[in-house]
Amino acid sequence: MTTETGKHTAESPVTSETTNQQWGGRFSEPTDAFVARFTASIDFDCRLYRHDIQGSIAHARMLGHSGILTASEVEQIITGLEQIQQEIEAGQVEWSVELEDIHMNIESRLTQKIGPVGKKLHTGRSRNDQIATDIRLWLRDEIDVISKEFRRFQSGLLQLAEKEAHTIMPGFTHLQTAQPVTFGHHLLAWYEMVERDYQRLQDCRKRVNQSPLGAAALAGTTFPIDRHFTADALGFDGPTRNSLDSVSDRDFAIEFCSAAAIAMTHLSRMAEELVLWTSAQFNFIELPDRFCTGSSIMPQKKNPDVPELVRGKTGRVNGHLISLLTLMKSQPLAYNKDNQEDKEPLFDAVDTLRDSFRAFADMVPNIQSKPEVMREAALRGFSTATDLADYLVRKGLPFRDAHEVVGKAVAFGIETERDLAELKLEELSTFSDLITADVFDVLTLEGSVNARNHIGGTAPEQVLKSVEVLRAQLG
Ligand code: ARG
Repeated sequence: MTTETGKHTAESPVTSETTNQQWGGRFSEPTDAFVARFTASIDFDCRLYRHDIQGSIAHARMLGHSGILTASEVEQIITGLEQIQQEIEAGQVEWSVELEDIHMNIESRLTQKIGPVGKKLHTGRSRNDQIATDIRLWLRDEIDVISKEFRRFQSGLLQLAEKEAHTIMPGFTHLQTAQPVTFGHHLLAWYEMVERDYQRLQDCRKRVNQSPLGAAALAGTTFPIDRHFTADALGFDGPTRNSLDSVSDRDFAIEFCSAAAIAMTHLSRMAEELVLWTSAQFNFIELPDRFCTGSSIMPQKKNPDVPELVRGKTGRVNGHLISLLTLMKSQPLAYNKDNQEDKEPLFDAVDTLRDSFRAFADMVPNIQSKPEVMREAALRGFSTATDLADYLVRKGLPFRDAHEVVGKAVAFGIETERDLAELKLEELSTFSDLITADVFDVLTLEGSVNARNHIGGTAPEQVLKSVEVLRAQLG
């Protein structure tokens, strides 16, 4: 018995009468009902149906091309598989736990539909190379979808960075006010993180995009198969080189989860900043109401739920990476049933990564900054102290001495509760006679950010230049 979503509930009776037809020959008693449920993967690998059929069609074509099946047999198999896909998509197929997994569910339906010729599809193939093929095909498609979300987020960041190129905010180290930066510059830092995440995914895709089909159970097959044919038909870069390795390793899935964990870690850092900035204490930005929720008890609350959730979801993706590493650890060659446990972590990592990036791509370009508040915050906290030290260095003082002089000026500012720019020239010059009226040019926030006008610097001019270059690269 299955629920509407095809899930088997704990109470679902699974009859123990049915001997599994796919291997029944060797067995003298049917699989125990609990064992059937325990070992089945259909509840989750049904998600791979489209890629399983895609792989089977390519395999059937290859069998025809190599003269292993007749043209008519191939045609019947392909027509049958295409119809099964339609039936699945119309919700007409009830998955069966007795048939264990997606491969046997589809094959058994095929034989039901087209008769004994359906039983020829599995010639020269094993579920071991079949599942390795399915996951790779599926993951490749998902990487492409996720890559588009990454790109959408990046182009949103460029749009916002351009708008905020001149907005000044405090830059932090140790979360203490350090030096003034432009908000556009900060957003471009986020862009760089996502760009590396994107590159990591593309790199991972190369190793995903290899065809294990033809490795069969572990050693290859006695049939005269053409592995280049199936690799080409499925859009793979080529066949994998070693059959034992092909059916056993899931390092491509580990690699994906690793890239996903790093990307989520980046999002969690951005999420954390968004949460801080929306707090009453910072009050730097406003998130659109549609990305926030209220409190059932405190009427004034507007909670940044989306960034908080993304920050939290980072934990599960990190967990999936550890799951897969632990799953693979110490597995002897070649295929082991352990590998069936790769799917749920991988599926959830994909879903979480995609949805989190989608949320950020929708939300971040719609941030409303509060430039006056940011500016006010940058004015506090002696953010131009380094500019004063640099000023003294340009007048001939060694940097260490300049550091000392400015430290004393800051101490005086703290004592008298004024920022450096608020001190009078007479006061400032008591710390060094090198300080003259032109000092106020470097003590302003604009002076400070404009002065950092080199590649990678925070000056508005650099931000605008970078936006232009990056936009051209994004295409
Ligand atoms: N459901 C299996 C998996 O996910 C498919 C391969 C099964 N192979 C086997 N020899 N039992 O790994």
